[in-house]
Amino acid sequence: MNAQKLRRLFIDFFIERGHKEISGRSVIPENDPTVLFTTAGMHPLVPYLLGNAHPAGTKLVNVQKCIRTGDIDSVGDAHHLTFFEMLGNWSLGDFFKKEMIPFSYEFITSPKYLGFDKQHIYITIFAGDDDVPRDREAEQLWRACGIDEDHIIVLGREDNWWGPAGKTGPCGPDSEMFLDTQKNPCSPDCRPGCDCGKYIEFWNDVFMEYNKLEDGRYIPLERKNIDTGMGVERVLCLLLGKTSVYETELFLPLLEKIGQLTGKTYVHDESEQAHCFRIIADHAKAAVMILGDEKMIRPSNLGQGYILRRLIRRAVRMARKLGRSEPFLGELADVVLEMYAQPYPELQKKRDFILGELKTEEEIFGRTLQQGEKEFEKLLPGLLKNPQKIVSGRMAFRLYDTYGFPLELTQELAGEHGLSVNIEEFNQAFAKHQELSKQGAEKTFKGGLADNSEMSTRYHTATHLLNAALRSVLGDHVCQQGSNITPERLRFDFAHDAPMTKEQIQAVEDLVNAKIQEDLPIRMETMSLDEAKKIGAQAMFESKYDEVVKVYFIGDFSIEVCGGPHVQHLKDLGRFKIEKEQSSSRGVRRIRAVLVNEG
Ligand code: ALA
Repeated sequence: MNAQKLRRLFIDFFIERGHKEISGRSVIPENDPTVLFTTAGMHPLVPYLLGNAHPAGTKLVNVQKCIRTGDIDSVGDAHHLTFFEMLGNWSLGDFFKKEMIPFSYEFITSPKYLGFDKQHIYITIFAGDDDVPRDREAEQLWRACGIDEDHIIVLGREDNWWGPAGKTGPCGPDSEMFLDTQKNPCSPDCRPGCDCGKYIEFWNDVFMEYNKLEDGRYIPLERKNIDTGMGVERVLCLLLGKTSVYETELFLPLLEKIGQLTGKTYVHDESEQAHCFRIIADHAKAAVMILGDEKMIRPSNLGQGYILRRLIRRAVRMARKLGRSEPFLGELADVVLEMYAQPYPELQKKRDFILGELKTEEEIFGRTLQQGEKEFEKLLPGLLKNPQKIVSGRMAFRLYDTYGFPLELTQELAGEHGLSVNIEEFNQAFAKHQELSKQGAEKTFKGGLADNSEMSTRYHTATHLLNAALRSVLGDHVCQQGSNITPERLRFDFAHDAPMTKEQIQAVEDLVNAKIQEDLPIRMETMSLDEAKKIGAQAMFESKYDEVVKVYFIGDFSIEVCGGPHVQHLKDLGRFKIEKEQSSSRGVRRIRAVLVNEG
């Protein structure tokens, strides 16, 4: 067995049972601004789970690249991963539990497929509560398949419910499949759901059969869905009888390469060195998967870019602990690309981008570290005079805030001189800083319109024209990164690598003015975000998938998802003039423009 065989085994099993294979999607969600990454195979399918017709039909199967960052600080132990692959199959209002549970049973027990011993399999089902009854149907179906009563564990909402937490929408009980690895139980209470590593959850069948209403009631759905998810890394590990995902082909080539690069040898244990190896392997892989995405996310201080930056920098720090301070991530990236060439050919096309960005970020971080060390050296004589031998949290925070110097490194340097760092004070300073930057982010996120004055509305419409003109002059890679409007001017940030030439600036300005002169008609239509995307609408501030969005058309020159408001007549805008074009951050340009009233 190997990973590629496992992927095909699952997908072909469901193809033979009437499913259509669909390709996995981007690790950056298209339809959901509430999370940074695609966290499950169902994520890109939400519009279809909500009732839109899927072009491939009602029975689907695929493998999806997923990223979960909730447990990022636990990565390094034997099980936690930021990047993983999820095999999944779906019924969109087609078959339901009485077909799905036998499918699952056959796949996990038949020697033709996973062939797990029935005696080692445990199943969890939803216990029921005040709102929704116990899932007796699932229980009976598992029993009918041959699972013994004492291998069916009944658990509550935290464990066996899938759906919107506190929100409205489709949801339902789920049934998770565990394999007993035959390890000794960690305590008399050890059972599926305990995370000591004895019982490994490897597949989840979700039965979406309720709609949660605004008033909190759960109403049975007319059109019920199945959503399942199986972790490739875990199942491979179980099939090979290994104790950890890191001992499979999905990590061993990386661990070996890290050994070569650092001159150390990976031993699978709980030592700090083993943790470093695993963190580097996990983070390097996740970074490649993010950089390899079509959305071309780069390391930055915001959103996905921020997580990417954290992954890269943490990997660099761990490598330094292992004794490697020269850049190394490019070499690991090549190992990742080779490992995933077959299932994810799209990554290969991004090799230059991936390697280039990793190199740049390693260099930037390298300089950061140097500078931080220099600053620390400067402070050292003063610190050594201090009888308490404490580096204040404020000082550690200043090194972090001004030079990007990580706390752990301040601690390390301090330790080398017999000093300790006041962590509590650092955390206080950090929390205060986060609160301030959160407020700042909320302010800029409002982005579009700061007020509803006539001038702001004009600038808003002009921003749509500018966006379309930039795409027309510079190319389709131009994508809005931010916008800020006052009654005096507009400011527009967009993804583009190089400064614009004078000619390009002129061409954009001329094009916007030509459209204003043509007095193109402006109209608004409402549709689902999905439909809007299909007709090529630009969408910056994505709305929730299940909401109908407004789409503004300016002739056929500009189509954008937007809340408005906009002017009635383009001619009202006057003459458009670009005052400044400059860098905003790496890979992002900023334009400042005004409307000159010539009347
Ligand atoms: N969406 C379900 C999960 O991620 C299958 O567990």
